[in-house]
Amino acid sequence: MKKLKVAAPVATPALQRAQGTERSIAELAEATRRLTMRRVRDLLPGKIATKRLVLRAPIRGDVPDLMRLADNKAIAEKLARLPSPYTRADAVGFIEIFAQRADERPYAITLNEHLIGVIGLSFHDGRPPELGYWLGEPFWGKGFMTEAGRALIDAAHKTGHYQTIGARALADNAASLKVLEKLGFKRTGKARSEASATLGKPIVLLELQRPRWM
Ligand SMILES: CC(C)(COP(=O)(O)OP(=O)(O)OC[C@H]1O[C@@H](n2cnc3c(N)ncnc32)[C@H](O)[C@@H]1OP(=O)(O)O)[C@@H](O)C(=O)NCCC(=O)NCCS
Repeated sequence: MKKLKVAAPVATPALQRAQGTERSIAELAEATRRLTMRRVRDLLPGKIATKRLVLRAPIRGDVPDLMRLADNKAIAEKLARLPSPYTRADAVGFIEIFAQRADERPYAITLNEHLIGVIGLSFHDGRPPELGYWLGEPFWGKGFMTEAGRALIDAAHKTGHYQTIGARALADNAASLKVLEKLGFKRTGKARSEASATLGKPIVLLELQRPRWM
């Protein structure tokens, strides 16, 4: 039987134009998506004050405190994406690159103008923003994270834009689960961590709904 020859597509000017247009449309859609995410992110205030703390954008002056406090295995082992060991380059990268991303809104948690931890929201397509945090070990057990979390959630609710906030914690992270439950989060499911640092470990998924009166 005679074999049918399939002609290879010829890159005619018309085909090249069509491919170029397709690429431009995809790039435009991606730029629009990033802009929308940035707008949503920027609805959150630049600074949030609580009784004892101030939450504000991380700055270059935070590098020494970040290096001192974040370079701690007891923190890194609970988080999906905190480098360990934590170097000066990680601290600078966090401030100059990570904190500038359209889909991230981290706040330095400061006490007497010094960074003592980080809290923030991560934005994702098609699912609620997710709360994440860590606190330097010398400051654990004084109610600081509950105070910081409550303030950030209140600020998020006040924008009127976040109906649901998500969170996740390792199933054995009793302190973090306690903080989340004190903040009003409800357990919605279980999963296994897909992050390389905590791969395969059981995690608890939680959500917080904006109260109707806010
Ligand atoms: C989790 C973390 C942020 C808590 O911060 P914190 O300021 O100490 O938290 P708070 O003091 O506001 O609240 C902690 C609560 O957990 C309780 N707790 C602490 N350790 C606990 C443990 N091992 N088992 C049970 N409860 C515990 C405290 O008693 C407190 O509850 P209470 O107010 O009813 O007494 C801090 O330990 C941390 O940064 N850990 C490492 C990083 C991390 O786990 N990040 C979260 C990832 S999901």
